[in-house]
Amino acid sequence: MAHTPTSDGRAPWRALVLTLFPDMFPGPLATSLVGTALTAGLWSLDMQQIRDFGIGRHRAVDDTPAGGGAGMVMRADVLGAAIDHARRTAPDLPLIYLSPRGEPLRQPLVRELSAGPGAMLLAGRFEGVDERVLFGRGAREVSIGDYVLSGGEIAAMVLIDACVRLLPGVLGAADSLAHESFEGEQLEYPQYTKPREWEGLAIPDVLLSGDHKKIAAWREAEAQRITADRRPDLAMAAKGPNKGR
Ligand code: ADE
Repeated sequence: MAHTPTSDGRAPWRALVLTLFPDMFPGPLATSLVGTALTAGLWSLDMQQIRDFGIGRHRAVDDTPAGGGAGMVMRADVLGAAIDHARRTAPDLPLIYLSPRGEPLRQPLVRELSAGPGAMLLAGRFEGVDERVLFGRGAREVSIGDYVLSGGEIAAMVLIDACVRLLPGVLGAADSLAHESFEGEQLEYPQYTKPREWEGLAIPDVLLSGDHKKIAAWREAEAQRITADRRPDLAMAAKGPNKGR
């Protein structure tokens, strides 16, 4: 795929996914804001089929775990070859292995990756990948949450979506980014729109008052209340001496 610069002269943000299931892509990434940005060339998406580097007539990519146990493990030699091949076309992309064991994907990491050239995303299947390839190729392990998916592909899509929406020109109003959950240090305040009353429920008066100072104060208080209620961990972090999440 050609990687022509965007109108502001930057190279498009690049996602390169190493997977056994390239047909899962672009999937939801072809839709809405992120899909429009893909068509517009603000970012690019390439898949590398891991099986192309499989061993033997059956192109085996996995084998039984050393030391015994259930399931299969993806082979280091196969993955090493796939990564090395991908790196020849994308030498500057950080390698990320999606895994429930990884560092949590939070907005500061999303911002960091979004500000860079892109990401090479290794999507595992089975019981996992041979540890040596993660060490040998310097992979950063990232988790999208404390639950186990059947493979890394959906996690890769989550990471890509979160990064792409931050790229310049993808979201219309930059202001909508500044106020939303996690861009600051608390969850977002409640939103309302027409009708003014719905099923006996009214929009809070303050929002219709036209008093922008009062509205801002109400929103701040609501954001604090919701954060303390739902995510006391975030509320503590925002109050604490070390705000550097
Ligand atoms: N692969 C399987 N589960 C995952 C998770 N929670 N995060 C990232 N990758 C995964």
